[in-house]
Formats: sequence, C-alpha cells, structure tokens
Amino acid sequence: MNLLVTGGAGFIGSNFIFYEREQHPEDRIVCLDALTYAGNLSTLASVLDQPGFRFVKTDIRDRAAVFSLFEEEKFDIVVNFAAESHVDRSIENPGIFLETNILGTANLMDACRKYGVGRFHQVSTDEVYGDLPLDRPDLFFTEETPIHTSSPYSSSKAAADLLALAYYRTFDLPVSVSRCSNNYGPYQFPEKLIPLMIANSLADKSLPVYGTGENVRDWLYVEDHCKAIDLIMREGRVGEVYNIGGHNEMANIDIVKIILKELGKPESLITFVTDRKGHDMRYAIDPAKIHRELGWLPETMFADGIRKTIRWYLDNQEWWKTIVSGEYQQYYEKMYGNR
Ligand code: NAD
Ligand code: DAU
Repeated sequence: MNLLVTGGAGFIGSNFIFYEREQHPEDRIVCLDALTYAGNLSTLASVLDQPGFRFVKTDIRDRAAVFSLFEEEKFDIVVNFAAESHVDRSIENPGIFLETNILGTANLMDACRKYGVGRFHQVSTDEVYGDLPLDRPDLFFTEETPIHTSSPYSSSKAAADLLALAYYRTFDLPVSVSRCSNNYGPYQFPEKLIPLMIANSLADKSLPVYGTGENVRDWLYVEDHCKAIDLIMREGRVGEVYNIGGHNEMANIDIVKIILKELGKPESLITFVTDRKGHDMRYAIDPAKIHRELGWLPETMFADGIRKTIRWYLDNQEWWKTIVSGEYQQYYEKMYGNR
C-alpha cells in the first residue's frame, strides 16, 4: 500500500504516521507538508530515514506540485490532515483558512480523480456541527446533525467536507470523512488549550481562560483518533461520514485546574480573559456509528492520557521551547496582550 499523509508534520498527522509505521510497517508512507508555523520536521526525526518513508515539502494550494507528486507516486490511499487548524487564528485572518482548507482539499481530490486513487479520507472536525447548549446534556452530535458552523475555521472545514461528499456523488470518488472531537497528546502546538496551559504553568505565567471557563469540550487522546482513522480508511464505507469521540466532556476550567494540580502550581495563576468571538459552548460526539460498524472504542482514559501528555511536555521541553521562541512570541503578544 502506498499512502499519502498530508499535514504529517503537525500534531495529529505526525502521531498518525507513528501509528501507521508501528501497525502497518509493510506500507510505504509519503508525507506531504508545507511546514507552516504549525509543522515541524524535527517531530518526524525518528522516521525520516526509515526505508518506506518519504517527506516532501509541498503546499496543497500548489496544484501543479500536487499533481506532479501524484504522477510520480501512484497512491492507493490519501489521508488529508493538512489544514489551518486554530480557531483564534481564523478569527484574525480567515483568508488562508479558505485557501488551504477548501481549495487545497479540492486540489488533492482532483489529483485523486485523475490518478485513480482508491480512497480519499478527509480528516474533519466536530466543529462543523456548531455547538450544543450547556443545559441539555442529553444532546449529542450524530452524523445526521445539521452543519451549523460558528467560526471561519469550522466553516472552511465544513465546506471541505461537503465538497468531499459532492465528489463522491458527482464523480464517484471513493471518499470518507471523519469528524472528531478535541484531541490532546504529544506534539500538539502550544497555542492550543492543553499544551499552552502546561507551558505557561511550567514558566509560572498566567493561564488565560476565555470567558468564564465553563465551555465544554469532548477530549480524546490522539492515538485513539489515529486508530479510528486507520480503521475508516481501510474498512469504512465510501461516501460515509463517521463521528469520532470518547464521551469525555470537560469544562475548560476543570482541565486547567487538573494541569495545575499535576504540576503542583497554584490556582492563582488562572486569569479570566476576554472571551473568544463566537465561542462555541459545548461539543459532544455520539460515536455509536463507528463503534457499530467498525468496532472502534477509545482506549485511553482521560486521567491516564493527561498524565502521559504532561509527562511528555516535561520530558520534551526542547521541542516546544524552540517553538514558543521566535514568531510565536509575536503571536502571543498580539492575541493575549490586550485581553
Ligand atoms: P496542526 O495545525 O497541528 O497541523 C497542521 C499541519 O498541516 C501542519 O504540519 C502544517 O504545516 C500543515 N499545513 C498547513 N497548511 C498546509 C498547506 N497549505 N499545505 C500543506 N501542509 C499544510 O493541526 P492538527 O491539530 O494536527 O489537525 C490536523 C487535522 O485534524 C486538521 O485538518 C484539523 O482540522 C483536524 N482536527 C483537529 C482536531 C484537534 O483537536 N487538533 C480535532 C478534529 C479534527
Ligand atoms: O473540536 C475539534 C477542534 O478542537 C479542532 O477542529 C481544532 O482544530 C482544534 O484546535 C480544537 O478547537 P478548539 O477551539 O476547541 O481548541 P482550543 O485548544 O483552541 O480551545 C479549547 C477550549 O479552550 C476552547 O473553549 C477555547 C478555550 N481556550 C483556548 C485557548 C487557546 C482558553 O480558554 N484559553 C486559551 O488560551
């Protein structure tokens, strides 16, 4: 099997490559990544020189470059992780989200059509469903929940999903789509809630909690997400959407307190700051379909996953300290300076 993984130098894509190397060492993997601020080649150091692995620095917006790689490689499966992924950045600058997340996805699917790729898997998000109210804990996102987006990020992801399903119906392109809840684990860029709070706690910096901190997310350990994608792309039905989530809802403020407790830091570091514009209240996935059809269940309990994650950030300070220097400093000042 010749597998193309786009966005493989980012958080979930890199974890997926490690998962595939371990579970399916017989498969060849090509990782295509533009190495934006969120992509880090050093993350892939352990696989870069392995036989059966190739890294290509290419932008999915570059149609000619994408087509030429497909011409050369003859892929069996394409998994698209490449995206602008941070909601706050999409509020600052929506344009690049439309270019990468929508037009980039279309370039990949056009190349899949031309070169007869056997499966295009689009890695999407639960954010396409919008949000749920806090006072209705009985409600969950199913695959039938209407698309109802809130941010430029989620709108761009929803557009890409719909385009993928349209390519299935119109052109018979064998696509599948997965919509997963919030991931956490090693190699997550420290602009996202959990790694940001770990990094700030370790530096005794204030922990900026948006609004009241009551917003709820449904957390899943990244390896569980990787396993679900692997199952869907190999055994899932084409033209189908699969929700992925582990029934692990938690309020932001509780996550922040858990991190402080694990690190032995005081809750006085918590600072409530101006809320995110259009901030989604609650995400909660119903994963019944992927369980029923593919037998998938999450395997990592949050209490274990968060401890493993904190341990990883403690043991790999060089990885994230390099990232939080440089361009990220300016981003941090801009986003949090006046909040
Ligand atoms: P990330 O920001 O950590 O990584 C994105 C990767 O894509 C980076 O390596 C980046 O260099 C690359 N990339 C960006 N623009 C590109 C372009 N134009 N061409 C080629 N490569 C480009 O993101 P992540 O958190 O790993 O998310 C991966 C995917 O999973 C995204 O599609 C995201 O929407 C989806 N997702 C994320 C989560 C989550 O909790 N992080 C949950 C559900 C779905
Ligand atoms: O649900 C899946 C989505 O999860 C993915 O599609 C996105 O790519 C991913 O970034 C993530 O989106 P969120 O917006 O939920 O994640 P983030 O880590 O940015 O924020 C999680 C929650 O924490 C959210 O309610 C906002 C809040 N928050 C975040 C940051 C960065 C804070 O209170 N303070 C912060 O500094």
